Amino acid sequence: MEQEKSKKSIPFIKIIIGVALLGFAVVVVSGNKMWYSEDRPIEILSDMDNQFKAKPQVGSTFFADRAASRPVIEITVPRDGISYPLEKPDFERADSVIGQNPLQASDFVLARGQNRFEALCAPCHNADGKGNGKVVEKGFQNPPSLLDEHAVGLSDAHIFHIISAGQNIMPGYADKLNMNDRWTVVHYIRSMQAKR
Ligand code: HEC
Repeated sequence: MEQEKSKKSIPFIKIIIGVALLGFAVVVVSGNKMWYSEDRPIEILSDMDNQFKAKPQVGSTFFADRAASRPVIEITVPRDGISYPLEKPDFERADSVIGQNPLQASDFVLARGQNRFEALCAPCHNADGKGNGKVVEKGFQNPPSLLDEHAVGLSDAHIFHIISAGQNIMPGYADKLNMNDRWTVVHYIRSMQAKR
């Protein structure tokens, strides 16, 4: 009886080992990079992999100028309904057109200003405002320190204008920071200057 039992169990183990080896071989072979293909994979359920849509900065055969990004239609305004009224060189009009900072420098406003400053300005101006941010390390022009007399002497409206429209090679951030966020950044710069 015992002999019969062991005779039966040996093929069973062999089958398991055989299946394991086969599975291993399939996995190894299917990972073969020589079979790399540019073809689209076979899709059983395509979910939303392929959509009829235009991505920014991508070509398009739909429009005559073959660009997917469309120019802004003239009478449109941003979703918050406010477009910045001045151009980059108009800084002299900033005081009369922009006026005072409408926000109070509360803890929340300063925290928001710091958060936006560190996300959008620190790459160039550095988190301490002295310049030498990461982008400058890579060769971008060193911005002046925001803690220097010159920047301290700028009015709030002038700083707001620089953030909105830019100055020389610094680009404007009106498209990335709404009005309130720009004013929180002005408060945050003032708080850094006060601590210098
Ligand atoms: C791409 C790099 C870059 C970024 C990002 C950047 N700046 Fe600037 N910034 C500069 C440069 C360069 C100058 C000097 C421009 C010039 O030559 O007048 C400058 C000038 C300024 C000035 C004028 C300083 C002075 O004394 O004249 C202020 C204020 C300022 N930036 C604030 C900001 C704020 C606030 C942000 C974030 C919303 C920001 N910058 C983001 C590069 C940058």
